[in-house]
Amino acid sequence: MEYNMKLYEGFLHGADYNPEQWLSYPEILQQDIEYMKKAHCNVVSIGIFSWSFLEPEEGKYNFEYFDKIVNDLWENNIKIILATPSGAKPRWLAEKYPEVLRVDKNKVRQIYGFRHNHCYSSPVYRSKITKLNKMLAERYSDKIIMWHISNEYSGECHCDLCQRAFREYLKTKYNNNLESLNHAWWTGFWSHNITDWEQIHSPVNIGEPDGIMTGLYMDWKDFVTYQTTDFMKAEIEAVKSVNENIPVTANFMGPYQPLDYHYMKDFVDVISWDSYPTWHSDRGDVYEGHTIAFAHDLHRGLKRKPFLLMESTPSLTNWLPYNKLKKPGMHRLSSLQAVAHGSDSVQYFQWRKGRGGNEKFHGAVIDHNNKPEGRVFDDVKNLGITLEKIKEIAGTETKSQVALVYEFRNRWAIDNSSGFNNADKKYKRTCINHYLQFWKRGINVDVIGADYDLSDYKVVVLPMLYSLSEKQIDNIEKFVANGGTVVATYMTGYANETDLCYMGGFPGGKLKDVFGLCADEIDTLYETDFNFVKLNNKSFKVVDYCELITPLTAEVTGKYEMDFYKGKPAVLKNSYNKGKAYYIACRDTGELLNELYEEIIKECNIKYHILPYGISIHTREDDFNNYLFVENYTEKEQKVSLKGKYIDVENDNIYTDEINLDAYEIKILKSTI
Ligand code: GLA
Ligand code: ZN
Repeated sequence: MEYNMKLYEGFLHGADYNPEQWLSYPEILQQDIEYMKKAHCNVVSIGIFSWSFLEPEEGKYNFEYFDKIVNDLWENNIKIILATPSGAKPRWLAEKYPEVLRVDKNKVRQIYGFRHNHCYSSPVYRSKITKLNKMLAERYSDKIIMWHISNEYSGECHCDLCQRAFREYLKTKYNNNLESLNHAWWTGFWSHNITDWEQIHSPVNIGEPDGIMTGLYMDWKDFVTYQTTDFMKAEIEAVKSVNENIPVTANFMGPYQPLDYHYMKDFVDVISWDSYPTWHSDRGDVYEGHTIAFAHDLHRGLKRKPFLLMESTPSLTNWLPYNKLKKPGMHRLSSLQAVAHGSDSVQYFQWRKGRGGNEKFHGAVIDHNNKPEGRVFDDVKNLGITLEKIKEIAGTETKSQVALVYEFRNRWAIDNSSGFNNADKKYKRTCINHYLQFWKRGINVDVIGADYDLSDYKVVVLPMLYSLSEKQIDNIEKFVANGGTVVATYMTGYANETDLCYMGGFPGGKLKDVFGLCADEIDTLYETDFNFVKLNNKSFKVVDYCELITPLTAEVTGKYEMDFYKGKPAVLKNSYNKGKAYYIACRDTGELLNELYEEIIKECNIKYHILPYGISIHTREDDFNNYLFVENYTEKEQKVSLKGKYIDVENDNIYTDEINLDAYEIKILKSTI
């Protein structure tokens, strides 16, 4: 189903709402709706943790209290996103059916507790929850705008049911051919040959731990994503069987290691995610600003469509080592940053702080003082007012000429391949460092997967793409052959999708021709080591990794200045068919990338801004207007030059050529196309 972002006419603004915690406080439940209106909230997500209330005993359902809540919200024009309550299970279920409890990596079956921890293969869990989901759909479909499927799917289970499902998954993948599997996993190593499907076991701590047989690990991780998705699909099917027109979402979690969202994305109508930046930490807000921007662009990039900010905190979290408050201005900046990157909502966890439980000190719109006033409440309310004023922007698209490939599978492969710097290969951070080069120049970037259609981009950045299937290699090759520009780094195309190294030199297959080089060796540097690279007659410090390259057709533009590889290629540029391929053989410390991207951006004719430190600009557009979000991540007042005339969407102020931004200010401007 094509989900229409204009469906809700404007932005969604609201929170996770857990009335179950307050059933014995009717006066609180009554106040909630009144306070929601005061806070300019127009939506709530309910039912996320309601299972034990909706089905207090097996097969005995109680919808009465929920009917009232749904009706009250409905009558008061608060839109409802209804969750399927699979994120936390009732005790009776675990007591009666232990199979629903996960078996951990030490092969220990957990006892009841916590949440987000059921076995995805358990037929009992599946049948119980899908039955309940269907009942919810039958009862409430006409009063809800969207389904929130489960909550933050995560984790894995190593029980016998999961082992069986894993083996079936492998049989299908390898066409029942054990020989292919043995080859893909390179089982000849340490005499690990598999002669019967029943011998296969998931990677666990007391057997084959992660990272020993990376082929097994990659397939297991794929299976975990597959099985989680299969469970999610069953949940979706249950609600769609009643009314297929209500869109579904599942709240994702950024560049989250355990799952492959590139696979999961196709089974939900709308992408949403839960964003918890650590503002005001010792890393600084500019660091946090572009780090979170990357995650927003990753979620927009999943479908290349607007997404929803399903959760964020109105003030602080409670689970970080240090839980800081947002300084004045930061709530607005952080929330509108999501909008700038394509979100059509600002939603919070949580509406109200509970009196007890683990999250009683997690930020909420309504605090324990139970008053619709104060700093946090006012920030929320003012944001609601702003979202109403900028309503016309909801549903508008983001156009990007640049894409950056972040591959969940590549992260699995890199992190679990023994070698290089085993402590931390810094894949995610490297992607974000490349991304920063565009962020600080106000250039939109789609963060996407290596299988995506690349034809609309001018530049595609491929940091540390160690793991690439032949199909992905073909995709990159085709893009360059047709005139695109790619930028890759050390460790590109070393191994295929089950972590078998490419033969004949790295990068594998056609990529050698695309980049016109062969990466012969890689030197891993100690923390205290460094080298320098000479590029454009300037010296740039490099760290961590230095590859030794033999150029084939590539032009050498930068050379190492020290060690036994002094004078050897460190930065290369190749013309391949109609396109260009840049290769950076070492890890820079910021300045080298700055120099190089400046050149690439100009050469590829990408529109960019010259911005002061800590300022970024992102755009959304429709057929008539171009919307600019000008963001200041510093505590300083800043001046930003913008050529032309802009109207402030919130108050119709007109700016020509220059605008002033206060500390942490964000302005939303428009220019007519
Ligand atoms: C996650 C969960 C919420 C809540 C918040 C707290 O995003 O989905 O239920 O626990 O974290 O930050
Ligand atoms: Zn299991």
